[in-house]
Amino acid sequence: MLDSTASLPAAHAETTALPDFARRRTFAIISHPDAGKTTLTEKLLLASGAIRLAGHVKARGERRRTRSDWMEIEQQRGISVTSSVMTFEKDGIVFNLLDTPGHSDFSEDTYRTLSAVDAAVMVIDVAKGIESQTRKLFEVCRLRDIPIFTFVNKVDREGLDPIALMDEVASTLALDLTPLTWPIGLGVDFRGLIDIAHKRALLATERGGPLTRVVPYNEPEDLLGLDGVEERIITEAVESLTLALGVLPPFDLAAFREGHLSPVYFGSALKEAGVAELLDGLGAVGPSPLPRAAAGERTVEPAEDMVSGFVFKVQANMDPNHRDRVAFVRLCSGRFKRGMKLFNAREKRQMAIANPIFFFAQERETVDEAVAGDIIGIPNHGMLRVGDTLSEGETIRFEGLPDFAPEILRRVLLADPMKAKQLLKALQDMAEEGVVQVLKPLTDPAPIVGVVGPLQLDVLAARLEKEYGVPIRYETTSYVTARWITGERTEVERFMETSRSACARDRDEAPVYLARSQWVLDRAIEEWPKLKFTNVKERG
Ligand code: G4P
Repeated sequence: MLDSTASLPAAHAETTALPDFARRRTFAIISHPDAGKTTLTEKLLLASGAIRLAGHVKARGERRRTRSDWMEIEQQRGISVTSSVMTFEKDGIVFNLLDTPGHSDFSEDTYRTLSAVDAAVMVIDVAKGIESQTRKLFEVCRLRDIPIFTFVNKVDREGLDPIALMDEVASTLALDLTPLTWPIGLGVDFRGLIDIAHKRALLATERGGPLTRVVPYNEPEDLLGLDGVEERIITEAVESLTLALGVLPPFDLAAFREGHLSPVYFGSALKEAGVAELLDGLGAVGPSPLPRAAAGERTVEPAEDMVSGFVFKVQANMDPNHRDRVAFVRLCSGRFKRGMKLFNAREKRQMAIANPIFFFAQERETVDEAVAGDIIGIPNHGMLRVGDTLSEGETIRFEGLPDFAPEILRRVLLADPMKAKQLLKALQDMAEEGVVQVLKPLTDPAPIVGVVGPLQLDVLAARLEKEYGVPIRYETTSYVTARWITGERTEVERFMETSRSACARDRDEAPVYLARSQWVLDRAIEEWPKLKFTNVKERG
């Protein structure tokens, strides 16, 4: 009999002997809306003992949502547009869970959040398989070779046959899969799980109840004839598992860490089935903080003494009493201590980090110390931007936090023309937060905002009015896309002279070409072979 998980160690083995950073697991959950990300988050916190009652994640979300108008947009549309961080501990492992917005309009934000994690959990609805948003987010993870755990949720409901589902996921994503838990029945037949990693069956003692009965086995066949489970259901489960283990590759740590193989956990977040096993797997085989590539062929190791980190998100409105913003920093090396001075490579300035924050499951706490893998919040008045690198002196620039060329471009018009200055300041703030991109056309005083999804426009308008007292409206433009122009300076200037009405500058004064059609863009690319028209630009 194949044992797919012979190499899966226990999560809590010898954790005290490890350096602090090696006990960190920094990860995100990716899913299509409604697959169960919120429920799973809540139940992971519950399984870790960080919260005692389910319902906190949503309740917290609701409280947060009442704080401002743009959060009301979230509420009205039933979506989550913000990312947050939750830290919890289990068996000596510190888990940093970064929330990603589920709505596709915020894919840029999601992309940046995923740049700050070392692993991801992909939640799939057992009845639906791979959905559009899961696929998109998966592709982002693949770009960075992020190891992915798969959680097939809602096995307490009718769904696709587990083998057919695994087959679909594997072929749609071109990803190898190996099961670590397997359902005993689906929907009304759901009786429990086979925990392959620990060679045991987890069963409910009453229909629909928690899986408290544990039956160890040597071979899955030992489970045939298990009392308390209908013969038809257990036979089908054992047969399909045996078949799956026979055709699927065994768990391989290296293939998983390289992002080629995903361990699959079947379960039900709602019924808390399979959640503890997933958490155990995250602790046991989830990667601890990985080395990070920086500009100039520098690789920063988590074990280095020097503190370094980068800002992957800036969020306003965290505290309604202060107009502060919080920059979320992913630490990449060293041991951070409160009060430490860090060097901002972009501003070439030291900054004392006096009151950094940790985000625990239920509250925020001041950080005294933090290590690689940890996420700290730094309240500031706009000094920190997405993409900024902080370090103890060395000028480092971490890569992989790009801006994407916007696909939707709108001219911003003021209701009150006297507020032009406030508008520019507000737009600059929003651009630095990464909410939108702001382009200043060479021949038109009205700024253009660029977004990837239309919902960002609503968020921007609501925030400008509420937070800056600047009501705006949008006017469509004739541009369909934007490209950053790079090349020799004289050539770039020559191009901008000949196409002045279609050129703009971004918030860093970098030249941008606004194309009226794909055809026009293709022609420019052809006619100006010495120039590059790029759709991504590294921040920082
Ligand atoms: P999301 O964050 O990915 O959008 O999903 P969320 O957790 O909010 O779950 C979406 C819906 O699916 C919720 O139902 C939730 O209760 C349900 N759900 C999540 N996990 C499971 C599961 O394992 N089994 C079953 N049967 N349902 C599950 P809802 O009716 O939309 O919300 P609510 O009224 O329960 O809050």
